[in-house]
Amino acid sequence: MDNKVIIFDTTLRDGEQALTASLSVHEKLQIAQAIERLGVDIIEAGFPVSSPGDFNSVQQIAKTVKNSIVCGLSRAVEADIKACADALSVADQFRIHTFISTSDVHVQQKLRKDFADVEAMAIHAVKYARRFTDDVEFSCEDAGRTPIDNLCRMVEQAIKAGATTINIPDTVGYTLPHEFGGIIDTLFNRVPNIDQAVISVHCHNDLGLAVANSVAAVQAGARQIECTVNGIGERAGNASLEEAAMIIKTRQDLLGVHTGINHQEIAKTSKLVSHLCNMPVQPNKAIVGGNAFSHSSGIHQDGMLKASNTYEIMTPESVGISKTKLNLTSRSGRHVIKHRMESLGYQENDYDLNTLYQDFLKLADKKGQVFDDDLEALLFNIQQSDNQEHYRIEDLNVLSGSGEFATAGVKFAIGDTVEVASATGNGPVDALYQAIKKCIDFDIEVADYKISNKGAGEDGLGVANLVVQWQNRKFHGYGIATDVIEASGQAFVSALNAIYRAQQIKNIREQKAIEKIANI
Ligand code: KIV
Ligand code: ZN
Repeated sequence: MDNKVIIFDTTLRDGEQALTASLSVHEKLQIAQAIERLGVDIIEAGFPVSSPGDFNSVQQIAKTVKNSIVCGLSRAVEADIKACADALSVADQFRIHTFISTSDVHVQQKLRKDFADVEAMAIHAVKYARRFTDDVEFSCEDAGRTPIDNLCRMVEQAIKAGATTINIPDTVGYTLPHEFGGIIDTLFNRVPNIDQAVISVHCHNDLGLAVANSVAAVQAGARQIECTVNGIGERAGNASLEEAAMIIKTRQDLLGVHTGINHQEIAKTSKLVSHLCNMPVQPNKAIVGGNAFSHSSGIHQDGMLKASNTYEIMTPESVGISKTKLNLTSRSGRHVIKHRMESLGYQENDYDLNTLYQDFLKLADKKGQVFDDDLEALLFNIQQSDNQEHYRIEDLNVLSGSGEFATAGVKFAIGDTVEVASATGNGPVDALYQAIKKCIDFDIEVADYKISNKGAGEDGLGVANLVVQWQNRKFHGYGIATDVIEASGQAFVSALNAIYRAQQIKNIREQKAIEKIANI
């Protein structure tokens, strides 16, 4: 049996479907490219039939990504599979992933069918998908709770129909490692044509066992793990990619398998996904949590000083975390910034050194010392406002104290015009948001607003994360500055620009539809 474990990343599908505010096409592309650099074998880019926005982003990713196979999800129906094929056909290599539920509770309660109907649908779906590509994956949704005889039957039929990968999801995160490993073992023992497909697993984390179950499955012969960066996904999430990859690397002695993951890209990819998805990583999270490589107790620190393997089973450098801390100030030259970015894992073509350096100097003037976190924050800010944005704050003034009201005045650019407005509010941020709202001609509601800090102590930068609701959709905005009011203003404006971009995409789509009708 091949000892390579294929890493199938579903951050942009299972992960994205669980976010409060959906990602823009640009953000999805940024994540897809980071995941490609991470060395993932297959990127599940979305569920094309679910919305025109998803179709568009899957297509853009399929056009851009070259080193990973791009995959789309479809239910076991022709319309879904056709949408996948249409979105993916621009890719160099693509996979269609089709699925149907196989557990009694799903078949009877959710689908209101019997198992024979579901089996027929699965066979038809796989055969139909094979018309578009030789790379077809079939998933038995809720396999973890499927009677084993039915599961064996379904797997055998799907392989016979042409599926080249069979995925066994523990959709509700119910099984225990030995039990899940046992299911995989049984499939290997009982399905006669099992050697004609790769066996994959897709575990959810409802009981905190997603990664443990995936590893148990690998020990039983599975050779594909479906996972997400930082473990994001439905409910308690999916198996975390970084944990699965580092277990396989660190315990190679016992597992005897490997992946194609570039481990040093892990920390950087985790930060990008956390930032763009507005999903903070818990400090004690394995591999990528802020404390994953910190040692607090005196005994541990003493051990670490004597030999790092006393308390570290892997080094932070092995996942791309750099230990050296340089204090950067306004006297640090451009080459120092470039060098620092390199040691943080960013290559020159990931960013524009001139822009970054100018922003760095401004920040260094305000803050004195600039830390690694600050540099990354500046980079995220630049990436966010890469294009000349439609909405911009040109100037803002806020007055607040212990009195009842705060007052804000704003000079606000919309495209080529500039508006000036002022408003009061029940705090400085509210006053600022009321003033901006006077400048725009549509109403939005703030659904969530969080202020946190990035970087060291009171010297850290203020970070604002905001979710706004507009026309039944949620949009995420992000701002970072030395001043929390300024960061909050940036977050509001970045959410407005996300709405603007979504609206433009909608207009283009409507225009195309009108042209199509006119041409008929
Ligand atoms: O959890 C699940 O079963 C899924 C399938 C669509 C693979 O996400
Ligand atoms: Zn899932």
